[in-house]
Parts: sequence; structure tokens; C-alpha cells
Amino acid sequence: MYQCFLFIFLKRKVNDNVNIDSFISKHSKEALKNDPPGEWMPTIPDGCIRLSSGYPAPHLMPVEEIKAAVASLLEEEKDLPLHYLGSPKKKKLDELIQERLTQRGIQVSEEELLITSGACQAIDLIARILIDDQTLVAIEAPTYMEAIEIFQNYTHHFISIPVDEYGLQTDLFEDLLEERKRKGLSLPRFLYTIPTFQNPTGTTMTEERRKHVLELAVQYNFLILEDDAYGELYFNKQSTPLKAMDPDGRVLHVGSLSKVVAPGMRIGWTVAAPEFITAMAWFKKDLGHPFAQATMTAYLERTDMKERLETLRTTYQAKCSVLLSALEEYVPKSVSWYIPEGGYFVWLKVAADTSELLAQATEEGVSFIPGKYFFLNQEEGTGYLRLSFSYADEKDIVEGIKILGKVLREVE
Ligand SMILES: Cc1ncc(COP(=O)(O)O)c(C=O)c1O
Repeated sequence: MYQCFLFIFLKRKVNDNVNIDSFISKHSKEALKNDPPGEWMPTIPDGCIRLSSGYPAPHLMPVEEIKAAVASLLEEEKDLPLHYLGSPKKKKLDELIQERLTQRGIQVSEEELLITSGACQAIDLIARILIDDQTLVAIEAPTYMEAIEIFQNYTHHFISIPVDEYGLQTDLFEDLLEERKRKGLSLPRFLYTIPTFQNPTGTTMTEERRKHVLELAVQYNFLILEDDAYGELYFNKQSTPLKAMDPDGRVLHVGSLSKVVAPGMRIGWTVAAPEFITAMAWFKKDLGHPFAQATMTAYLERTDMKERLETLRTTYQAKCSVLLSALEEYVPKSVSWYIPEGGYFVWLKVAADTSELLAQATEEGVSFIPGKYFFLNQEEGTGYLRLSFSYADEKDIVEGIKILGKVLREVE
């Protein structure tokens, strides 16, 4: 008993004396000065309608199919998928993703593909490989806030290029690049863009702007990190990914099964030149999930993905039009928005500070994401908010917009 107390006392003492902070690297300390990751995520009271959540619709999650995939995998391969090396299906997953990419117009060899733990791991690995602490990164304004969080862990040097209803404004980007060149300032090492059904604006870059941005990449010698997380979720028309228009390998293309199968499985990928894929694999080591990858393979082998994608597209298109009709009916006339052609989101411009509005909205029963979190310079986003039509059901979407309309009218 006495020894036990002595042990606890000594352990306490040792911990008290260690100044953990003094061991943390300069680079990490710099990153830890940023806002904590996920700070944008609103606290949502029970029963609140979640128009904030960029999650797939719960009823479209393939629960029974994943159960069946796990059962057949373990029946067939016994302990194999549970080992470090995992199941032979891991290699099959590469082939299945290659097939899916062919349907997006991207021909890819084995050496040009790396499976990652979601698109986010791919973005992080790319950032780690490309960014020094002085590296300039070009991002869209607004853009996916988790990507901002990742890049800020590596550099503080950014330029933001505004997005309008036709996507990234490439003319403004060209002006900015030319001005920097003239002044002898550094040029970006890469541009991060979500050209198709952008998060948060829901907009899609036009064909002309796609060509223009690829020309700029050659002219000003930068790479393009193309995030295609929503590319397959078009309502009527598929857009050509930048990677499919890229003759000289400047585009690093990142994709994901999070929005079309299940985000918790953490399956994403990168398509890039073989030497870049080798560098990514170097740092990724075995930070993947052999069991999740084998399960996803078993699921994909048993699933007609063409049919599933049709279901997802029609379901999300219907939910999007319910949300758009509700906006027409219930929000003040001063509010405006872009009409998305796919994806999960609608972006609203309102005459109020949306982060101040959020507390009242959640109290009344609806959540959204305030626009400021999608901008590097958060003040630019004060008068915007992001709504998602993917997660809530149609009845709740209408109810949620009614509540939002009421809250917005009160501040007009
Ligand atoms: C643009 C964009 N990229 C990537 C992701 C995350 O993908 P994953 O779950 O594969 O990491 C999201 C999820 O919201 C997203 O909106």
C-alpha cells in the first residue's frame, strides 16, 4: 500500500517537472499559434436542424452493405485483412479506383496513384512535401476551411483569389501573378482549387477558366492541387477535371469516397507524376488502414456503383431544389445565392454578421456555418453563410429555412 502511494507520488512529481512545451519543435509551435482545428464547427443543440453538416444523407449510408462486405471478407480471408500487410484486396482497390478515374476522363497507371486516409491525408502529405515556411500558396476565397487549417500548419504565406458563380476568377489571378512578377515578389508554388461543386460556394469553374488556369500554371510555373471531392455528384452534366486536361503533369488530383460511400471509411487518393507519388508514399509509410481498404474493396466489388451514383445524384438534386424553393419562399428578398449544379452546398449572401446570427439560429432550431471560416481573412466572410442540403431530410430542410428566414427578417 505504502509503495503504491510512493509510486503515484513519484509519477506525479516527474510529470510536474517536465516542461513539455520546451520539447516542441519551433515549426510545431508556430502551427500551434493558429486557431484550433475544427473551431468552425458549431455546437448544435439536440433537435436542431443541421443545415451546417456537410455529411452524406444518413439513409444513403450503406450500413447493411458494409456489414455484408465485412462478413464476406473475414469469411473468405480469415485473419489476413487484420495484419499489417492486409488483404490482397488492397491492390484490387487501386484497380477499382483506376477504373472510376477513367470515367472522370483520367487515365492513370499504378505508379501515378496513391490511396490515402481520405482526401485530407492527401492534402496534408502534399502540403508537407511542397511547403517550406517561406512558400507562397494560392487558395480560393472562400475555400474549404480544413484545407486552410492544413496549409497554415506549414506556412503563413498565402494569396487568395476570389470565386464568383463561374468559379475561381482567373483574370484576377492573372493580374495578381503579373503584379507580383513585376514587383519581384515570390510566385505561388501551387494553387489549391476545388473546381467542381466547390465547398463552400457550390459553384463550378467554367471550361474557359479551367483552360486559363492551366495556362497560368505553365506561364508562372506553379502546380495545381485539384480537390475533386464532389466531382461525381453532378445533377445534370459532368465537368472535366483539370487533371484530364493537363498534358504536362502540373495537376495533383485528389479524390475521395467520403461523399459517395462513407466518410468514416477514410478512403481517398492522389493522382500525380510517379516521382511525386513516391515522395507521398515515403511520408505516408503505413499510416493507412488496411482493414478499411479491404472492406471498401469488398463493398465496391459487390456494389453497382453506377446505379448507386444515379441514386445519390437524383436524391441530392431533389433535396437541393427543395432547399432553393424554400429560400425563394421564406428568406428576405435582400438575400442572394448561387444555384449549384451538384455537390452538397448553397452559399448565401446576407445583410448581417452571420457569426452573430448563429447563436440565435441554433436556439430557434437551425444551424449553418458562418462564412468567415472559409476565408483566410475572416472579415471577408462576415456577410455569408453556408447551407448544406445533403444531411437533413426534405421536411427538415423546409422547416430549417423557415426558421432561418425568421431569424434573418429580425435583423433586417
Ligand atoms: C472540398 C473537400 N475536400 C475534402 C474533403 C474531405 O474529404 P475526406 O473525408 O476524404 O478527407 C471535404 C469534406 O468535407 C471537402 O469538402
